Amino acid sequence: MAKKNQLSVNQILMLSYYRSSEIAGALFFGRLCRQVKDPELIYFLTEQFMEESNHALMWTKLLFKYNAVPVQMHSTYQSNYAKYITVPSTMTEILLITKVFEARVAERFQFHLQQADTPQPIKTTIKLMLDEEESHINWLNKRIKQQAEADNQSIDKLEAQYLDADLKAYNEIIANENNLVGFFQ
Ligand SMILES: [Fe+2]
Ligand SMILES: [Fe+2]
Repeated sequence: MAKKNQLSVNQILMLSYYRSSEIAGALFFGRLCRQVKDPELIYFLTEQFMEESNHALMWTKLLFKYNAVPVQMHSTYQSNYAKYITVPSTMTEILLITKVFEARVAERFQFHLQQADTPQPIKTTIKLMLDEEESHINWLNKRIKQQAEADNQSIDKLEAQYLDADLKAYNEIIANENNLVGFFQ
């Protein structure tokens, strides 16, 4: 059990996992925003790169605030998804898996906000991030329809696959959320 104003080892691992996932997202969008030619994609993906990087910094600052050092880990939400889906190759696939992922993150953040035992500094950090995550989802919803027509892909089947992968990856974490030491070994 953690003392007041200290995080438990489990909390440090969870926040480190969130930080690693934000970094994985930032690196992914950072590479992508250098390749696309469509002006709207250039704008959105560059902004996404910046915001996910900033989220990684916010988790880092939060951990330091508790005198904790982030645990460097390769395990991320994205690497867990990779066990269940093939690597998205078209822009429609990329935007769709991003939307599924962003929705999961927003839902998870809402869960932490609703828990009475979530420390206030964590809630404050999450609230700041949630506004940005929600605006990502709004943009993605608009753009995916248009992108699917351009790529001649149907969204429904693909989205069902991604939702299924998301649920499996998420359930793995949830099943282990009280013993992340074992999970991340
Ligand atoms: Fe983020
Ligand atoms: Fe995001």
